[in-house]
Amino acid sequence: MVNVTEPSHFTYKPIPVASNANPLYFEDFGRQVEGFDPSRSTPEQMEEIINMLYKHSILLFKNLKLTPKQQFEMTHAFEPQANNYGHGNNKTGNTKSSILHPDLKTIPHQPQVQLIGNGKVQGVYEGLDSPQLKHPHHKTFHKEIVSDEDEEKGVTRFYRWHIDAALYNLSPPKVTTLYAVKVPAGELQTCRYDDGTGDELQVSLGGTAFVSGKNMFDVLPDELKSLAVRTTVEYAPHPYVWMSKAHAMSTGLGIESEGLEMDLEDLPEWEESKVKKLPMCWKNPVTGSLHLQVHPCGAYKLHIAPEPSAALYPAGGVVTDLKTVRDTLYKIQRPGIAPPLVYSQDWEEGDLVIFHNQGLLHSVMGAFTPDQLRMFHQCNLAASEDPVGPDAEDITKYA
Ligand SMILES: [Fe+2]
Repeated sequence: MVNVTEPSHFTYKPIPVASNANPLYFEDFGRQVEGFDPSRSTPEQMEEIINMLYKHSILLFKNLKLTPKQQFEMTHAFEPQANNYGHGNNKTGNTKSSILHPDLKTIPHQPQVQLIGNGKVQGVYEGLDSPQLKHPHHKTFHKEIVSDEDEEKGVTRFYRWHIDAALYNLSPPKVTTLYAVKVPAGELQTCRYDDGTGDELQVSLGGTAFVSGKNMFDVLPDELKSLAVRTTVEYAPHPYVWMSKAHAMSTGLGIESEGLEMDLEDLPEWEESKVKKLPMCWKNPVTGSLHLQVHPCGAYKLHIAPEPSAALYPAGGVVTDLKTVRDTLYKIQRPGIAPPLVYSQDWEEGDLVIFHNQGLLHSVMGAFTPDQLRMFHQCNLAASEDPVGPDAEDITKYA
């Protein structure tokens, strides 16, 4: 299907959604782009790609040859003022206690681009000497884990639903680019929610799950839409260190409240002015739609604006009890990750995905054996400013 009203440098087709997906949620979400050549791209072509990305949240390119430099340049085109990796450059050497540390290897000649994946790379690769990669496994993060027996049968989980963002000091990147260099073949796996609903998905080995923040907002009942447009989420300082001893829920959509978060005084040095307070809904710069965008693991407090006619929190206030913060977010976000709303990217070598990091949530899935080599290049850049929340019209409409 080619929509003739859309720009014309390239051809756009719907992304291939699996049988779990309800096509209604994918009318606008995701496009496969044909005809793009990164070695010959022009500023006009990139302008079109940028516009299409904001309209469709995910763009998939097949069979690309893409150098780290070209990948950085594509990512950089979304925001020429942004120059540093989303978590700060040269992540490999920093903040050893952060839960993100083992997952990233910085490419020395293009430090905004990270090598991620699984297995040991033989020899020197892009300036890295035999890098050892490790795909995150849910058993290192979830409270309750899949039994060995079920794992043998190919049962997996969403590791962690998230936005790519430091959530402290730096602003969330506008987009992330993910380029598949090496993809091991493997059997289909079953991604199980294990939350009592019986929900599950058939996914390819090491697929990446995506859900639209717009769908996540749109499926909510009116009282939760009202709460969502009135709420600002405050994140913990150094959230990935703060949560480093805590365990996730079986859906990967947030943390179990066991009191295992670090005390703020035990964290690396931090200052109040760098703590992130971000609206719960972020406004799409091209479509004007609201996308429900919360990184549930790092959330610390909710600041709610009053609305006397509202069903929930009419007087507004600040929610500081961590369990209440999490329960509230879970109620708001869980509908948006139901199987009919999930797109799972079934990777092939040469695939490039650009995704709207300020417009969707994503999660890795799958479990690899140590000998299964998987190599991806990932790039995102801390934005020069925080995302914009609902405007006065949105508040009138939804609050
Ligand atoms: Fe990510």
